[in-house]
Amino acid sequence: MKILFYDAKKYDIESFEEERKSHSDIEIEYLDTDIDVRTAALAAGYDAICAFVSSDLSAAVLQVLAQQQIELILMRCAGFNNVDLEMAEQLGITVLRVPGYSPEAVAEHAMALAMSVNRRIHKEYIKVRENNFSLEGLMGINFYGRTAGIIGTGKIGMAMARICQGFGMHVIAYDKYPNPSLDFIEYKELEAVLRESDLLSLHCPLTTDNYHLINARTISMMKDQVVLINTSRGELVDTDDLIAGIRAHKFHGVGLDVYEEETDNVFENREMEIMEHSVTARLLSFPNVIVTSHQAFFTREALAAISRTTLANAKDYENGCIDDKNRVV
Ligand code: NAI
Repeated sequence: MKILFYDAKKYDIESFEEERKSHSDIEIEYLDTDIDVRTAALAAGYDAICAFVSSDLSAAVLQVLAQQQIELILMRCAGFNNVDLEMAEQLGITVLRVPGYSPEAVAEHAMALAMSVNRRIHKEYIKVRENNFSLEGLMGINFYGRTAGIIGTGKIGMAMARICQGFGMHVIAYDKYPNPSLDFIEYKELEAVLRESDLLSLHCPLTTDNYHLINARTISMMKDQVVLINTSRGELVDTDDLIAGIRAHKFHGVGLDVYEEETDNVFENREMEIMEHSVTARLLSFPNVIVTSHQAFFTREALAAISRTTLANAKDYENGCIDDKNRVV
């Protein structure tokens, strides 16, 4: 099988080449560029393409891929909200993904954001380097004894719930489909979770019914001085309403690994660019906000698991025995 690998970074190549040692019959051509309507035409002559969560797999791009006889898209990620599923189905393109490569990687990053923003580590790191040893502005809160609210208790939410329990927090959660095996979690309605949590962490997927789940109305229900963490999807949060809430001193801290404007930024070095009308720049201007760039998944273990499952998906497709839990379309 010949795979065209879009938007390949050095770390992708290293981990896929390591995994390819056990799949010598798979050939991979790595491209710097990501997929779009123009670059999709480069897939001519390949059996499959490999794309990431930030890749454009809109209807127009899928049509170009179909013209090149591409029948398989290997997503090297869990999320697939960027894939036009209806069009993929219509074109007979199979889309496979890596559903749970390392939930702990994401959950640990969510807690790292919560801890850092709570104790203002991001400010302190810079201040101390300038010989400023004052404690002004650094006061945090104890997480111990407080309430953690988890929205979405799937693989990542569950891992985050366990971490919060380990911190001695009371863990409450909202999920459309509660998991009865998580007996240390108290499931509640969404509104109750919003009202009672000191630390709120989003771990549900982006769906048509939860776009801008966090908005002016739901922010007004939250406790004053709540810590809000989003490692899930940017569009779960209405950024303008979030900024209004931050300005109104609603939040003790906000930690975002994902945000609405991220698409052009994800994994790119844009330090020499002038960011016009950037909402992200506004967010970054607040001392109680930390933004990371979709890095929650980024651990050695997660990358190894991603390359292992992606190549296993390719083999399974070839052998006609696809693992249903990895199938999107
Ligand atoms: P999962 O599918 O195991 O769990 C999702 C949970 O959310 C399920 O229990 C489901 O019932 C629940 N849910 C669905 N709609 C909901 C709603 N409207 N309100 C409340 N709960 C709802 O997914 P997993 O693996 O835990 O991933 C969660 C999300 O994390 C992904 O959808 C993705 O957006 C994000 N993610 C972020 C990464 C990063 O690097 N920042 C990496 C991987 C995933």
